Amino acid sequence: MSATLCKKEFYVQKFDFQHAGKAASDVRKLLMDYGYEQQLVRRVAIAAYEAEMNMVIHGQGGTLALEIDFEYIQLVAEDNGPGIPNLQLAMQEGYSTAGDEIREIGFGAGMGLPNINRCVDFLGIQNKPQGGTIVTMQVSLGAEK
Ligand SMILES: Nc1ncnc2c1ncn2[C@@H]1O[C@H](COP(=O)(O)OP(=O)(O)OP(=O)(O)O)[C@@H](O)[C@H]1O
Ligand SMILES: [Mg+2]
Repeated sequence: MSATLCKKEFYVQKFDFQHAGKAASDVRKLLMDYGYEQQLVRRVAIAAYEAEMNMVIHGQGGTLALEIDFEYIQLVAEDNGPGIPNLQLAMQEGYSTAGDEIREIGFGAGMGLPNINRCVDFLGIQNKPQGGTIVTMQVSLGAEK
């Protein structure tokens, strides 16, 4: 059985580097307020940040939805960008399609998705038929990683 304790949605604008990271920071604050332990909050916040940045840079912006349940904390990043044509490649450390302009400002190391994978207990990536990506991430509560 599961029950939702909290649901919240954050909007992420494409190429808005001034506010990029705000959604992840809000997620972190909210989880701290709920009293979750620091290590767990850190894992969720890293996953949120990487997913947020991917929507800013690659996904034409999108939404980051947080759901806190008794059994897990879930993040769903959904955008209407181009999608990820080769998921296996995208999951490899160091693989990035980011251009020079993005690399010049410090992104595009190809570490975001592998980083998310290390932080969460479940990672699911779906391409939407009409274009766009849905990244579902869950961190289990109660079990240490
Ligand atoms: N939301 C998305 N929409 C479209 N493509 C994406 C999305 N997220 C990731 N990708 C693709 O997957 C690749 C790998 O993503 P990943 O986050 O691992 O690296 P990166 O964003 O390129 O670099 P870094 O995260 O280290 O700044 C990206 O370069 C991009 O091609
Ligand atoms: Mg990234």
